Amino acid sequence: MRLNYLGISHLTSALHLAVGAAVFNWPDPLLDTLDSQLYEISTVSILAVNCTSRDNSTIAAQWLRLAYHDMATHNSTTGTGGMDASIQFEFTRAQDVGMGMIESLRDFVSTLNQYVGMADVIAMGAINAVIGCGGPVIPFKGGRIDATEAGPATVPEPQQDLASHIASFQAQGFNETEMIALVACGHSLGGVRQVDFPLIATEDAPTGIQTFASTVGFDNTVVTEYLDGTTENVLVVGSNITTRSDFRIFSIDGNATMQSLASPETFNKVCAALIERMINTVPSTVTLTDTLEPFDFKVQDTSFYPQAGSLVFLATLRIIDVGVNRAVTMFWKERTGKFCPAKGCSIQATVIQEVPSLYAQLKGVTGFNRHSFNASIDLATSISHFWFEVNNSDGSAPFIVDNNGANYTIDQDVLLYDPQRTISTFFSNTSVNERMVVGVKDPSKTIVTSLTTFGSNTPPFTGSGIDTFELDSSFPPADGYTFYSLPFDFDGVFPLSHTIQATINGTMYSAWVPGNGI
Ligand code: HEM
Ligand SMILES: *[C@@H]1O[C@H](CO)[C@@H](O)[C@H](O)[C@H]1NC(C)=O
Ligand SMILES: *[C@@H]1O[C@H](CO)[C@@H](O)[C@H](O)[C@H]1NC(C)=O
Ligand SMILES: *[C@@H]1O[C@H](CO)[C@@H](O)[C@H](O)[C@H]1NC(C)=O
Ligand SMILES: *[C@@H]1O[C@H](CO)[C@@H](O)[C@H](O)[C@H]1NC(C)=O
Ligand SMILES: *[C@@H]1O[C@H](CO)[C@@H](O)[C@H](O)[C@H]1NC(C)=O
Ligand SMILES: *[C@@H]1O[C@H](CO)[C@@H](O)[C@H](O)[C@H]1NC(C)=O
Ligand SMILES: *[C@@H]1O[C@H](CO)[C@@H](O)[C@H](O)[C@H]1NC(C)=O
Ligand SMILES: *[C@@H]1O[C@H](CO)[C@@H](O)[C@H](O)[C@H]1NC(C)=O
Ligand SMILES: *[C@@H]1O[C@H](CO)[C@@H](O)[C@H](O)[C@H]1NC(C)=O
Ligand SMILES: *[C@@H]1O[C@H](CO)[C@@H](O)[C@H](O)[C@H]1NC(C)=O
Ligand SMILES: *[C@@H]1O[C@H](CO)[C@@H](O)[C@H](O)[C@H]1NC(C)=O
Repeated sequence: MRLNYLGISHLTSALHLAVGAAVFNWPDPLLDTLDSQLYEISTVSILAVNCTSRDNSTIAAQWLRLAYHDMATHNSTTGTGGMDASIQFEFTRAQDVGMGMIESLRDFVSTLNQYVGMADVIAMGAINAVIGCGGPVIPFKGGRIDATEAGPATVPEPQQDLASHIASFQAQGFNETEMIALVACGHSLGGVRQVDFPLIATEDAPTGIQTFASTVGFDNTVVTEYLDGTTENVLVVGSNITTRSDFRIFSIDGNATMQSLASPETFNKVCAALIERMINTVPSTVTLTDTLEPFDFKVQDTSFYPQAGSLVFLATLRIIDVGVNRAVTMFWKERTGKFCPAKGCSIQATVIQEVPSLYAQLKGVTGFNRHSFNASIDLATSISHFWFEVNNSDGSAPFIVDNNGANYTIDQDVLLYDPQRTISTFFSNTSVNERMVVGVKDPSKTIVTSLTTFGSNTPPFTGSGIDTFELDSSFPPADGYTFYSLPFDFDGVFPLSHTIQATINGTMYSAWVPGNGI
């Protein structure tokens, strides 16, 4: 056993996945945000850590059940449904009863943006639920596409007979053996709530819930207690025989599958594989990304804006593995003219920060170091591209990090998101006139500036589509830029990720504003 930084002990086992440091090509909004959510601190990476309690159960149990119910709309014959976040339109159905559904969706809504939808975050939530409660590491792939309407009402219910359950799982892509195991894996966490199922959870339970197993964490006690006859799982031994669905399922094959799961190693291995398949069950029209391995180098959190006679350029280079005493230098070349010396202008990292990552640690990576830069760029000559030199200070030759040979290229300096002038409050404060501000270089009268924001369509949240900026006289022109703003409510949906777009003198400019760049 070893203790990770978050204080949870994990079995060091063969389940730890091989680390293949992956290559990141900047910019890539989808992989950038998915990676940050998975490997850095975000609500989806942190809330379920320590198997935290909620609603008489655990956040992890709610997230895992949500993921299964979302997937359960899959029809393998038609290739429709699956992990597509259609649960957002279904959680009012009796088969999806439980406040854990809407609460979990609320947990996730703040992590959504234009590139990453709810379905990817639900999948990530299932992975984090399992590791948060001490279970095995499951690989993550992104790229799911959110449904715009409800799927069929195909979530299995306890009062249905065995034949219906076999047919349901068959349609979802799981045979009988896999059904037994997947139900056992799911019912490792949480239990049946009296408020949700008063006809099933009939025992007098002061905690409001009859848990599937006597342990809170993700482990196989749900299996061993079933086999040794001590189980209190109401879907096995509840007084109402009609709703003993776990008993009917677990015993299909004379308990052979359950007996195989009595080995904790087998349980973890089988559950990791089945839950991975569950979250990767998507409509046949969806193509998932490769597995997100930790990137060796990642440029992130860039911002670029005019301030007091120069251009501020902020960037972070995140490097895999902590504990190395690296000196990292950022170099850049000017866009026009000759300002920088032949080898480029340069600056040292100003902040070096360690990124804690439970998921990375479980994958055998010690973590990441963030090297942050704050460069003052000459206003007249501006910047065209940048790169880094890394000195590991161990006698080895310093090496260049240049976006895998492509350089980190800055397309344009005409349309810039301005985090300095943008006004936002994290918490609701109606007396603050929140707005997002962009700077436009040398504007002409023909300017059309528009902003695309991603708005979640998760009930009860509503989203926005395309909004137009207005010239904002409270920010006088400065440094060759004119400032436009858009009233914007940051509350509860912070941080976001936006694409800003402007047509200036007939040319279209576009910039991605990373959510964490706000
Ligand atoms: C025949 C199939 C299944 C039936 C009939 C069934 C039924 C139920 C019922 C009635 C509850 C209680 C929910 C509540 O009180 O709010 C529950 C909870 C739960 N189920 Fe299932 N389930 C099935 C399969 C699965 C699968 C395949 C998974 C995941 C892999 C899963 C994961 C969970 C989890 C994690 C909980 C606990 C939720 C919490 O404590 O908040 N279930 N299930
Ligand atoms: C998890 O629990 C450990 C030990 O109690 C604690 O140090 C750590 O801060 C907790 N982490 C979170 C994210 O709650
Ligand atoms: C899956 O789709 C097929 C073809 O439309 C249909 O016959 C079948 O009933 C569907 N299965 C489920 C479980 O809805
Ligand atoms: C289900 O599929 C697995 C793996 O493909 C196989 O080992 C198992 O025998 C199958 N079970 C049934 C009941 O067909
Ligand atoms: C939690 O348990 C308490 C006490 O039994 C009960 O009043 C409450 O409704 C339960 N909440 C949920 C979400 O099950
Ligand atoms: C047992 O459960 C079924 C299905 O929910 C329900 O129709 C029936 O009334 C229950 N029986 C008792 C005695 O509660
Ligand atoms: C399977 O295990 C359950 C729980 O221990 C037991 O009641 C049942 O008789 C077993 N079935 C077989 C065929 O051994
Ligand atoms: C970057 O440096 C500028 C001054 O050149 C300063 O105003 C700004 O606050 C700094 N930003 C950060 C994030 O350190
Ligand atoms: C790399 O860092 C070491 C230790 O600080 C230093 O001695 C060495 O000169 C550096 N190498 C280069 C090429 O800057
Ligand atoms: C990258 O930048 C360096 C230094 O400015 C330059 O020599 C090289 O040609 C650039 N490479 C590409 C692919 O743009
Ligand atoms: C809200 O903003 C106003 C104006 O900036 C400030 O005076 C006030 O203290 C803020 N209130 C809260 C609760 O933060
Ligand atoms: C747009 O056109 C005006 C008038 O020709 C010019 O002054 C300005 O520099 C142009 N702006 C850009 C960003 O090209």
